[in-house]
Amino acid sequence: MKRIPLILDGDPGHDDAIAWLLAEAGRRRGSFDIKAVTTVGGNVTLDKTTYNALRICTLLGLPAPVAKGAEHPLTADLMNAPSVHGESGLDGPALPEPGIELSELTAVELMVKVLKESEEPVTIVSTGPLTNTAALLLSHPELKSRIGRISLMGGGIGFGNWTPAAEFNILVDPEAADVVFRSGLPLIMAGLDVTERALLQPEDFSRIKELNNPVSGIVWQWLEFFYEFHRKLGYAGAPMHDPCAVMVLLHPELFTVRDYYVEIETGGEYCRGATIADKRRVTGREPNAKCIMDLDRDGFADRIIEAIGEFT
Ligand code: RIB
Ligand code: CA
Repeated sequence: MKRIPLILDGDPGHDDAIAWLLAEAGRRRGSFDIKAVTTVGGNVTLDKTTYNALRICTLLGLPAPVAKGAEHPLTADLMNAPSVHGESGLDGPALPEPGIELSELTAVELMVKVLKESEEPVTIVSTGPLTNTAALLLSHPELKSRIGRISLMGGGIGFGNWTPAAEFNILVDPEAADVVFRSGLPLIMAGLDVTERALLQPEDFSRIKELNNPVSGIVWQWLEFFYEFHRKLGYAGAPMHDPCAVMVLLHPELFTVRDYYVEIETGGEYCRGATIADKRRVTGREPNAKCIMDLDRDGFADRIIEAIGEFT
């Protein structure tokens, strides 16, 4: 089976880190060829997400260049989520200092290089605001044909987590999301519909801790930290938002997917950043996204634990 070339674009972020762990485990098993890691401001500022990205890649031994991306959204001011991920964006365990240098290229420059050099269409996995991907599409429309698909964590059909209408990644940069959802590229949307059900529960944390390998202890501490915020909100576990965008590439059989035409609200007093799905086909528009609506949670948790077990 051919390796799928990947660009990992995110704002680490505890769940971004676990998504990238899944990608690296997939690479070790021959599923992926990780061509680049690119960072964006989101959960915390760009300097922090970039420092976190370098530390995560060092911890995982993920052998891809890391490039710094957009400091702020296309037009809006940046909003952050330190209440969820801590001031560092990756609070919890102490991590190794970066053992790799940051690329001299910007995120878009590295994305362009990867797309030009790849023999196969590249999958972009976006687990943060879509600013880098939108900037790539706006500045290099001629490279669209070299993008096979975009698997993104973002949105929610009918509800949000940062406002009643909008999910954080989309809300940070709705203009960028609008560019991506109008691009015509094959999209997989892992929205809150599935990610709020993709819970790792305390019994899963214990299974991870018992793996007792160089990475499992760190992941266990990430989960303990990330769960604490959500436990207080009544969650039964830690929502693995971003890992869904990678897991669907590895194990699509775990997920229930619906094809919808999705548009992004970029205006509005109450609904800016909403992902509005035409479930009843009233617009007559053809679907532009495969929206993940549900999952086999036990199977999802088992696959994540297996992936962590790769890091012996
Ligand atoms: O709404 C969840 C998303 O926002 C995740 O990507 C999380 O990392 C934060 O960026
Ligand atoms: Ca993220």
